[in-house]
Amino acid sequence: MALKKLVAGNWKMHGLSADLDEIREIAAASRAYPAVDVALCVPAILIERAARAVPGFAIGGQDVHFAARGAHTGCTSAEMLLDAGASLTIVGHSERRDAQRESDADVKAKAESALAVGLNVILCVGESLAVRETGGAMHTVGAQLDGSLPDSLEAEAELAIAYEPIWAIGTGKIPTPTEIGEMHASIRSRLVERYGADGRGVRILYGGSVKASNAAEIFGIADVDGALVGGASLKAADFLPIVAAAAAVEG
Ligand code: 13P
Repeated sequence: MALKKLVAGNWKMHGLSADLDEIREIAAASRAYPAVDVALCVPAILIERAARAVPGFAIGGQDVHFAARGAHTGCTSAEMLLDAGASLTIVGHSERRDAQRESDADVKAKAESALAVGLNVILCVGESLAVRETGGAMHTVGAQLDGSLPDSLEAEAELAIAYEPIWAIGTGKIPTPTEIGEMHASIRSRLVERYGADGRGVRILYGGSVKASNAAEIFGIADVDGALVGGASLKAADFLPIVAAAAAVEG
């Protein structure tokens, strides 16, 4: 059975007070697509204002610390995200795995700390271009999953996986539908191996240069349960056609 699609925007380091109107527009227009879950993951400092601006619409963080509290200057705990009005968070984005040197074990601990307080999690995996070109993509993503998946799905909150090939992020390049389908099928079998039947209920999003012009094709691929969208999520005019494409596939 097909899972309800989730289309989440990752605003990365974009977003000021002046952009709240864009968030209002996205939230209001998304109500026309009840068959799709829509979310925006904004900079931590914008979460509270965004959540207040669009009650009932899912606002998320882009990272979370694995500890509940303590001497971690500049970091944000899961409880803080929740307290600010977030209902989800991204963990393990390749930009953080790279620039902040986050390991699979860090990502796992972050996912578990978020799920434990009731935050939904989008856990990112994806291979580099060098790995793709040498045929190691499945192996690399499999190893990332082995190291970073939470031990159990027993929390009330939901886990989703985002497959984001690093070479497709912000480049306009995307894998072929066959490559996306093979990777998502491989992630699905890993999830089922790990969590049994519950693994079938974990949404697997594709991310990397998703835009209005390619969204319908991507959403039509088996085991693509949504998208994590970067650049094209910043403007309602770019993002809403992607949400509409997800709704159209839902039928
Ligand atoms: P782009 O959609 O800009 O390629 O970014 C994808 C991404 O990194 C989302 O997390």
